[in-house]
Amino acid sequence: MCYNFSMAKNITFNQPVAELIKKRVSCRSFDGRGLESKMLEALEKFPAGLELPFNSRLRFGIIDREKVKAESMFSTGSYGMIKGVRFYLSALVQKNAPRPWEDIGFALEATVLYATALDLGSCWIGGIFDRKHFGRALGMGADERLPAVVAVGRPDVKRSLRERLVRWSDKGNLRKGPAGLFFAGDWQAPLLYEGLPQWAPVLECVRLAPSASNKQPWRIVFRDEYFHFFLDRDRAYSALMPKADLQRIDMGIAICHFQLAAAEAGLKGEWSENEPQVLGTPGHFEYIISYAIR
Ligand SMILES: Cc1cc2nc3c(=O)[nH]c(=O)nc-3n(C[C@H](O)[C@H](O)[C@H](O)COP(=O)(O)O)c2cc1C
Repeated sequence: MCYNFSMAKNITFNQPVAELIKKRVSCRSFDGRGLESKMLEALEKFPAGLELPFNSRLRFGIIDREKVKAESMFSTGSYGMIKGVRFYLSALVQKNAPRPWEDIGFALEATVLYATALDLGSCWIGGIFDRKHFGRALGMGADERLPAVVAVGRPDVKRSLRERLVRWSDKGNLRKGPAGLFFAGDWQAPLLYEGLPQWAPVLECVRLAPSASNKQPWRIVFRDEYFHFFLDRDRAYSALMPKADLQRIDMGIAICHFQLAAAEAGLKGEWSENEPQVLGTPGHFEYIISYAIR
């Protein structure tokens, strides 16, 4: 099956996407002042114009924490993990959508990069947040769900103690090396950047992606001119987070970084479902999608 997945041509930021990917870090301390209505409008409109890998129909919105608070004194927001935030980017999806997770990851991460280009800070929140009252603020229907949100705003000049603690416990600055993520032919041989110099900056953009609890579950095996994307599933972690498949959202974020970086570098290819039989694929690896280079 081939996906019509050429939307990256239409995405332009005011800075190179590879720079934005390097610049972005999770921000958990905001200045508390909110954002102007024009900027909010632009942030809300941006993801609606995207073509998504699995063609899910998502409904985008921005949650105003002040309104939620005014309407419900019981709302717990994001449980104080994020300081000074007023707005949250969000995507609602139909409960019966076949592949919503990767599409949500793709769409909201493209919006995160757009926000980064506007000098805004952001932080994905997929674990604990007030799904009930946030959903209500978006007019969420019984057939819809709200898997994750992204806090967005102007960063505070001073990072809160809680922010420093979360970064320390998630080891947010650290990433696995390329040899732990990218492979050539099978899972035994690491894919060396020197072997595919044109694609090295694209893979580097995947490596720098944010992921839930910084687990970096993306695994790519390159063979026969295809990059095959797999998810290294942490089953215990997924069981702890039953409200959303955060690791599939991580895969959508990786697909987003790969696609945008490849398009920017002028590298051509095509997405398809083309699962390879790779000897020794661990049982907890899940095949996601492939990218054929042209
Ligand atoms: C799908 C997803 C869900 C996340 N959920 C949370 C969350 O609930 N709370 C939080 O503080 N950070 C959350 N994060 C942020 C990650 O912890 C962060 O991206 C990771 O530690 C890497 O750090 P960096 O974003 O600064 O590069 C989430 C990230 C992703 C991609």
